[in-house]
Amino acid sequence: MQHIKMRAALLLLSVAAVEGSSSCPGTFSSNACSLFETSMSYLEYFWDPVAGYLFDETDQTPASAMRHETRTSTWYAVGLLARNQGDDVANAERVFRNVVSGQFTDASKQWYGTYQKEPEEPLLGTAVYPAEIYDTWDPNWRGFIGTSLIIALEEYSHLLSSELQELLLQSLYHNAVGDSYRVGGVDGDNLYPCYSNPSIMRAVVSGWTGRRLNDTNMTAAGEMYGREIVSLFNLTNTLSEFNSATYTGVSLYGLALWEKYTPDDSILKQNAARMISATWESVGQLWHPGMRNLAGPWDRTYGWDMNRYLGILAPWIWLFVGREASSVYYNVAAMSHHSDFAFGPLLAILADVHVALVPAHVQSALKSFQGEHTYHAQAYSPPFDFALRNYTTWVSEKLTIGAISFDEDVVGGPSNNPGQWSPAVAQWYQGDGTDVGYLVHYATESAIDAEVTPGCLKLTYPYGNSSSIFTFLLSPPTPNGTLLDWNDADGLDVRITTYPEMSLNLTFAGAFGGASETIHDFEFYNFTYTLPQSFTGLPWVQLEMKTQ
Ligand SMILES: *[C@@H]1O[C@H](CO)[C@@H](O)[C@H](O)[C@H]1NC(C)=O
Ligand SMILES: *[C@@H]1O[C@H](CO)[C@@H](O)[C@H](O)[C@H]1NC(C)=O
Ligand SMILES: *[C@@H]1O[C@H](CO)[C@@H](O)[C@H](O)[C@H]1NC(C)=O
Ligand SMILES: *[C@@H]1O[C@H](CO)[C@@H](O)[C@H](O)[C@H]1NC(C)=O
Ligand SMILES: *[C@@H]1O[C@H](CO)[C@@H](O)[C@H](O)[C@H]1NC(C)=O
Ligand SMILES: *[C@@H]1O[C@H](CO)[C@@H](O)[C@H](O)[C@H]1NC(C)=O
Ligand SMILES: *[C@@H]1O[C@H](CO)[C@@H](O)[C@H](O)[C@H]1NC(C)=O
Ligand SMILES: *[C@@H]1O[C@H](CO)[C@@H](O)[C@H](O)[C@H]1NC(C)=O
Repeated sequence: MQHIKMRAALLLLSVAAVEGSSSCPGTFSSNACSLFETSMSYLEYFWDPVAGYLFDETDQTPASAMRHETRTSTWYAVGLLARNQGDDVANAERVFRNVVSGQFTDASKQWYGTYQKEPEEPLLGTAVYPAEIYDTWDPNWRGFIGTSLIIALEEYSHLLSSELQELLLQSLYHNAVGDSYRVGGVDGDNLYPCYSNPSIMRAVVSGWTGRRLNDTNMTAAGEMYGREIVSLFNLTNTLSEFNSATYTGVSLYGLALWEKYTPDDSILKQNAARMISATWESVGQLWHPGMRNLAGPWDRTYGWDMNRYLGILAPWIWLFVGREASSVYYNVAAMSHHSDFAFGPLLAILADVHVALVPAHVQSALKSFQGEHTYHAQAYSPPFDFALRNYTTWVSEKLTIGAISFDEDVVGGPSNNPGQWSPAVAQWYQGDGTDVGYLVHYATESAIDAEVTPGCLKLTYPYGNSSSIFTFLLSPPTPNGTLLDWNDADGLDVRITTYPEMSLNLTFAGAFGGASETIHDFEFYNFTYTLPQSFTGLPWVQLEMKTQ
């Protein structure tokens, strides 16, 4: 038996060698195949054959001391099914059994239906491991893991025993019911329909599982939630969680599942193609093929230059332009936030349906610069927004400037995170002309009136008063140098005017020191303006920018 297996493996190896060593299913396009193979080999590096989990390929500090991680293990397992070589299917099955064995099945708990984050963790909700939403447990992992189980069942059930399929369906049942406990604003949860990426996943997990289990109530819950998401989208023709190099990628993933795995009579299916294509229209307007960056402003970001961190939108763009032009570095693990590359196999599997929905002119805009233009959009995130948010981005060949007008009940956007929420952003070429410089407005106010015109950004602060501070974060010069005022900005002339006259405090945030910590691993100079004690009125800051 062992002998036969070995012979079979050898045979497989030699077949692969003859066919140019491709490990992709034959239906994959060449870009989908390179994404699949690159992300699988990235993940392979973290595979622990003893435990049947991936090690936590965390890109955070502290690192993981070789603990394991359930979510990326599940994504990898789906990739193993797609590859289906050697022991792949057996290993995928081990992962599924492991992850499902760590699902929380006590229906009386708020975390019912989600999964352990790591198999090493203590029992959740005990004195030694209190339940802290988004820390010791993550409600969104229901969506992230549940959707990948759906892909496994839809695409590869011929490889799974009926007993394992039952196990996955049972897990999806707990998952969907547990997710229905989530109500924005209750028990520390924040799942409103405007929280686009987990909302979209919730709707499909509930709708798909309900249909599969003949649970009409569960199906109806998915449809109902889907309707709320669609109504909100219809207001502005944009996702509420707008323009994020990471989360636009997750939302597109969820919408691809709506399109591919729900039937014609589902509101999810009826709207998915239109929402995917409209979302790509925005991406096409904002993607700068030369800078390989999504121009700002960003509702939620994990970095300020996509050539240096991995956003999930980048592997989607890879499907149209290949790796290099998508901003993904050839050695992905050198990038910040590289752990999101674990999404790669899933995107490759969904590539065929997805790519077909992206309009041809958008595909062209991803490949080459379409000329200077100004893009306007709106988005809306109740209950956080007092008014529609208005976006303006000026995109030129050498410089992009974008900003949001908003009025919210939080500082830091609906995700309540000033490090992610980037309401005004400029990017240009610096250094020898291949590096991308960034200027990011760090939110300190809950409202801004923004004006963007070619070369100019003006921000007025409706609630600003004498205790406000206004902060602009600027990229360090490359390759080295020290910045002592705006005149030292690398590659960019900046003329700043403020009302009233404000005093400037310039500091540096470095990995090894300085006045403050890096944000998303990025170092920056911090230009912070303060107002005179006596000031009353409407303060504003204007930056006129020109590339050198
Ligand atoms: C759901 O209903 C269909 C059609 O009535 C049936 O074929 C299927 O076995 C049922 N599935 C379950 C899980 O009950
Ligand atoms: C039906 O679904 C709703 C929403 O998910 C849930 O609150 C309710 O308890 C479910 N009812 C039954 C009978 O399953
Ligand atoms: C959203 O807009 C589409 C296209 O205009 C329309 O077909 C659909 O019925 C609308 N759905 C909702 C829930 O508003
Ligand atoms: C955005 O524009 C709309 C008009 O389209 C306006 O009603 C709204 O107040 C604006 N939002 C903000 C925050 O200024
Ligand atoms: C400025 O506004 C903030 C909140 O809006 C308030 O907490 C603060 O006291 C105000 N400062 C002055 C000097 O009015
Ligand atoms: C760093 O800057 C100094 C002074 O501008 C320059 O002489 C040196 O070549 C630079 N070093 C590198 C590695 O670019
Ligand atoms: C500038 O900011 C730093 C760091 O927050 C602080 O220590 C310093 O006192 C500030 N300087 C002035 C002049 O406000
Ligand atoms: C920027 O510097 C100011 C002090 O000038 C400080 O209060 C603020 O926290 C710094 N902002 C960031 C994002 O580091």
